[in-house]
Amino acid sequence: MAIRPVIYAANWKMNLGPAAACRFLERFLEITSPLEGRSLWFFPPAVSLAAVSEAVRARPDIVVGAQNIHWEMKGAFTGEVSLPMVQEAGATAVLVGHSERRHLFGETDDQVARKTAAALNAGLTPLVCVGETLAEREGGRTEAVILRQLAPLLERVAADDWGRLVVAYEPVWAIGTGRTATPDDAAQVHELIRFTIARRGVPARIRILYGGSVNPGNVPALLARPELDGVLVGGASVNPDGWAELVGLS
Ligand code: 13P
Repeated sequence: MAIRPVIYAANWKMNLGPAAACRFLERFLEITSPLEGRSLWFFPPAVSLAAVSEAVRARPDIVVGAQNIHWEMKGAFTGEVSLPMVQEAGATAVLVGHSERRHLFGETDDQVARKTAAALNAGLTPLVCVGETLAEREGGRTEAVILRQLAPLLERVAADDWGRLVVAYEPVWAIGTGRTATPDDAAQVHELIRFTIARRGVPARIRILYGGSVNPGNVPALLARPELDGVLVGGASVNPDGWAELVGLS
């Protein structure tokens, strides 16, 4: 029987500079080995990308990605990093539209779609995040919010390119709060995303990860659902022993 491929993605957010990232990987690589069907994705801060890429060179099961990029290739955009720059530092993937970018830094649905299209053009794999706030969920607007976030993506990304893209469903109310969506809640939104994209004539089955307070205790039940292709993890990914435990559980 073929092993179902699962992605375990670590979003380190604003943690682990180059020296700390190297210490993390020294330990993590010592206690883990490649496993069939499992891929491990790391999203370190931009300044740690080169160190992380170098450290994992001998591990084909590990993908390194940036947490954010600008859609322009170069220019007067103080404080931003470009796709060619993160590629030069070894990134082959990029997080786009994380809720912290959307809600703390005002990134719009259209900017998220532009970044996604630029990443695909440059040959990187975008991991595009969508998800509703607590007020939106409690107001019965989850579906409307997800559809609104997907709409500009469906405009800008060609049907044939969707197979190269990964989506993460991260309900904002579950991020860093200790409150996880139930496997049923997550599966329901994953199906909505899949259905919405398929209705636009996208041929590939889209890979969709769940994120929001994932930890070693809840990961087996979440990944038992076939609608989930993996998890995107913040807090539980910044300690090498804890992360090794989590990725070894399902
Ligand atoms: P936590 O796992 O800390 O809730 O963060 C989730 C997240 O934002 C991953 O991108």
